[in-house]
Amino acid sequence: MSSGLLLALALGYLLGSIPFGLILTRLFGKGDIRDIGSGNIGATNVLRTGSKGLAAATLILDALKGTAAVLIAEHLWPGAGRIAAGAALVGHLYPVWLRFKGGKGVATLLGILIGLAWPIAAIYAAVWIGLLLVLRISSVAGMAAAVSAPVAAALLGRGELVTMLAAFALLVVWQHRANLARLRAGTEPRVGRRKA
Ligand code: G3P
Repeated sequence: MSSGLLLALALGYLLGSIPFGLILTRLFGKGDIRDIGSGNIGATNVLRTGSKGLAAATLILDALKGTAAVLIAEHLWPGAGRIAAGAALVGHLYPVWLRFKGGKGVATLLGILIGLAWPIAAIYAAVWIGLLLVLRISSVAGMAAAVSAPVAAALLGRGELVTMLAAFALLVVWQHRANLARLRAGTEPRVGRRKA
């Protein structure tokens, strides 16, 4: 592997592994987000601290780190954007700083898609926001958005991205296995309500 690809891998992982939800909630006196709600470090769980502002900031920063990884890598080492994309997602899901227990990847994948192919990102965002508004179940909306990405790539003639985005979708769904168990049990909480 060339040094450019290795550097893109390292850059992507390092950016992706920044746990913004954990950092922001600690910084603003909300305690350890991993002890709250689902225990996840993502924006949905940050919302459960009662702070819409921190949740929005987490969502934006978790997405931006994905976009930054792709665009910086592609700029510095042309052709390495996709390596950085995968590394950023893996960094977010499995950050070494948190003993490899990271987030679920929905916001970071949106940011990655913005960097890789904005029309796919637009479809992803539409599926995510649309389902969130209708169902108010963040995990279902996020998983459906992730699955929509390889489908959108195929429909938009971006065949070279389909396999990679399918792998990303599988990773995101795998990270939601506790949510899937709660969905089966009927105990998955809805966004905007205090209890399930
Ligand atoms: O993006 C994370 C979301 O899909 C689920 O979050 O906290 O409800 O497990 P949470």
